[in-house]
Amino acid sequence: MWRNATQTVFGEGRSTARIVFVGEQPGDREDLAGKPFVGPAGQLLDRALEQAGVNREATYVTNAVKHFKFEPRGKRRIHKKPNEQEIAACHQWLDQELRTIEPELIVALGATAARAVFGKATAIGKNRGHIISKPSLDFDIDADVLVTVHPSYLLRVPDEDRETAFAQFVDDLKLARKYAPST
Ligand code: URA
Repeated sequence: MWRNATQTVFGEGRSTARIVFVGEQPGDREDLAGKPFVGPAGQLLDRALEQAGVNREATYVTNAVKHFKFEPRGKRRIHKKPNEQEIAACHQWLDQELRTIEPELIVALGATAARAVFGKATAIGKNRGHIISKPSLDFDIDADVLVTVHPSYLLRVPDEDRETAFAQFVDDLKLARKYAPST
């Protein structure tokens, strides 16, 4: 993956953050900018965080995988989902980020993030919408976990369902508010 990507995209945010958001992998825009969640999914995340009353600036935002995986199609680069091996290869980087920050809450955005955080396949539908208190993690830290959908999913849901899906995403993110009361 690193061979075709422009650069490694590590996380960004406060080293003292109490909340760490984990996404999947950088997208096209993130690969070019070298920063996580700055493209369309990031803008949607920003909007949802604002509505949920969570200040992104006070958090740390990162990804399970640190390079953009894509398939060239004409002039476009089409996102490809990272596989288990690629998630495992990046485990060490997420591990160092988490051990440095020692957050109180990890928010896993989507299935790839949930897999990375728990070290096993984790259904989003069944596990979203509540704080999971100090679960067993694939990392040597103690933190609560909130599982929710990936913002890119919301960009793909049919128009008629988008508003409801977005509101549900905001509701999930509101659960993170108590971990950052002063923001
Ligand atoms: N999607 C992700 O999972 N992470 C990013 O940084 C951007 C899009």
